[in-house]
Amino acid sequence: MREAPIHPNDDMFHGSHEHYASVGTQMANFVAQAAELAGTESPTILELPCGYGRVTRQLVERFDPSRIHVADIMAPSVDFCVKTFGTIGYHVTEPVYEFKNIPADAFDVAALGSLVTHLSSHNARSVIKHFFSKIRSGGVGVVTTHGEKSREHLGIGDCYQVGEAARQHLLNSYDANQFGFVNYRADHSLEAKTVDYIGDSYGISLIPGDWVKDVCAENGLTIVEHRPGGWDGHQDVFLIRK
Ligand SMILES: C[S@@+](CC[C@H](N)C(=O)[O-])C[C@H]1O[C@@H](n2cnc3c(N)ncnc32)[C@H](O)[C@@H]1O
Repeated sequence: MREAPIHPNDDMFHGSHEHYASVGTQMANFVAQAAELAGTESPTILELPCGYGRVTRQLVERFDPSRIHVADIMAPSVDFCVKTFGTIGYHVTEPVYEFKNIPADAFDVAALGSLVTHLSSHNARSVIKHFFSKIRSGGVGVVTTHGEKSREHLGIGDCYQVGEAARQHLLNSYDANQFGFVNYRADHSLEAKTVDYIGDSYGISLIPGDWVKDVCAENGLTIVEHRPGGWDGHQDVFLIRK
């Protein structure tokens, strides 16, 4: 299955097949760890968002595709994952941070890889609340954020192509222990197809660990593990039990 084609609109592919596979494999490892924490050998899994299957293609190597459910706001990406990997798919529809057509309390494990990294605090809060409503009690979610390592990288240069004023805003917010969110620069090339599809609500966030702690507390969730920079030496990874 790893030989499945990379979709031409996959913004997660930056030219290196090795890197693309490594990032997908790392997330599949976190999902496997979450399944162990949830006490399940053959978990029912939700991957939200799936994009064009960077992670999905690794999940189907380890888990039964008929128990892997994928969702994304980009309908063609969901269709691609369903057709290519044999998973179950959901098109995310309005209201787009509530996932109403995905069954509640249904999943042992769920992966929220690189979504709140692109949303405002208000939208990210809604996403966490509704994403965890899909996980059964005792199930485990894998959530990634732009946290400590992102702060480090952004301190060195404009790695997210947001422009200097926005970069300073993100750094100042994070250093004040506040959630920061900005739009991409008009001429950015990172994730350009995704932004074209979704619009300006999709930008770049920098998220202090305390924000994640607060949102978990609000929703009665327990952080089991926090790995700063745990995904590709970049995004923070949280394993969170419902
Ligand atoms: C950075 S990509 C990550 C994709 C995948 N998790 C991966 O790591 O390869 C972010 C994805 O979030 C999707 N997205 C943005 N807003 C969304 C929403 N409200 N609901 C579901 N997916 C959304 C985008 O379409 C895009 O595929």
